[in-house]
Amino acid sequence: MSNHLPAGPALAYGAATAAYQVEGARSADGRGPSIWDTFTALPGTINDGSDGSVACASYDRLEEDLDLVAGLGVGYYRFSIAWPRIQPTGSGRVEPRGLAYYDRLVDGLLARGVAPMATLYHWDLPQSLEEAGGWPARDTTERFADYAAIAHGHLGDRVTVWATLNEPWCSAYLGYAAGKHAPGRREPAAAHRAAHHLMLAHGMAAARLHDAGSDAVGVVLNLAPVWPERPEAAGAAEGVDAILNRVWLGPLVDGAYDEALVTLAPPLGDPDVVRDGDLDLVRGSADWLGVNYYTPMRVDVGDEPGAAGVGQDTSAYPGVRGLRFAPRAPVTAMGWEVDPRGLEELLVNVSQRTGLPLMVTENGAAYDDETRADDGSVADEDRVSYLREHIAAVERAREAGADVRAYVAWTLLDNFEWAEGYTKTFGLVEVERADQTRTPKSSYHWYAGLAHG
Ligand code: FCB
Repeated sequence: MSNHLPAGPALAYGAATAAYQVEGARSADGRGPSIWDTFTALPGTINDGSDGSVACASYDRLEEDLDLVAGLGVGYYRFSIAWPRIQPTGSGRVEPRGLAYYDRLVDGLLARGVAPMATLYHWDLPQSLEEAGGWPARDTTERFADYAAIAHGHLGDRVTVWATLNEPWCSAYLGYAAGKHAPGRREPAAAHRAAHHLMLAHGMAAARLHDAGSDAVGVVLNLAPVWPERPEAAGAAEGVDAILNRVWLGPLVDGAYDEALVTLAPPLGDPDVVRDGDLDLVRGSADWLGVNYYTPMRVDVGDEPGAAGVGQDTSAYPGVRGLRFAPRAPVTAMGWEVDPRGLEELLVNVSQRTGLPLMVTENGAAYDDETRADDGSVADEDRVSYLREHIAAVERAREAGADVRAYVAWTLLDNFEWAEGYTKTFGLVEVERADQTRTPKSSYHWYAGLAHG
């Protein structure tokens, strides 16, 4: 079947960012507040007390950043559209100045020979919708489908590859169960409802985009292989797999939540939440699947304290008893175990499970970036080897039969890393916080060498 997905014999390369992490310009051109503006203003939510109000100022430095993308020689740039720039209150009135920014972004990419890959939702829910209940409220799904149709109606003549959501696990479970991400609620039942509504919203938006002629609509998931550390941890690993992986793959592939998952997450078996027809709408709704991979999840049980990095917070897996995470060395600055075999295993399994074309929509590493070259730029050999080894793992998965079309590095620029603020750097390009100077790191030059072929 021919569609607009990358389809060359070789793996396509890309680089990614997300709106709230790079744009800044919080109130420019009519943008409304999002849940991240509200959350970052609360004391104690962000490691360095920072927020995304300035971030990388990419809103005002668009041409410079597009030149950096072009300099990489990649085929794709994955960016996200900020819903509160398009609909400042999440419904009704559309802000033409917000759309105009993404016109400039898309046109600038196309002029440089780079294909846009747009994500409709990378976590910045309009604050008004959170006040109306947020993702645990069913009405948010309707609002999202309308917004998706507006964005696609405006940009769909030039953007052909679309992702609805980025990492709904983070939106649902870090946002509404662990409270580590916006909106910072700690209500497990609401988190499960949010999970269902996010998948339903994806299905509704995908239907709208398909009706409008789109043939490359996907959803981006942070899936991971879950490895029990010893036999006693098998039950906990099963629970983590249910809440991290199966809660999304079940609806997409089978149109159902499995029984073990429903036992762990009772709202997913409640007919008032999961209504007739919801899961039919989700099944088969994706033309491709985005996989974001950073680390395998190594699960143990017991009373000793486990790792507590982002995504390793046990409260993000409500109902999984005795759980602790036990990453092995080496780990990145995030405390995430480095193991490219996890990516290979994941891609092979997800390809078999879904039968969908896959894209690695994020992969990369935070390191301290302390080593400098003679010219003062960051000599990040650790990041280069992380990327090199993970790309090799993707190639091995392809040889084993996984249909992986693209590899997209996270991330173009050092940026606002959510709860970690600016303390964790994943960029191929260093960004000086004081004056926004951009300086490519060794990893940028290495990746450009690869992408230019
Ligand atoms: C992912 C997010 C992305 C970035 C990386 C490090 O969970 O999608 O925005 O923060 O982690």
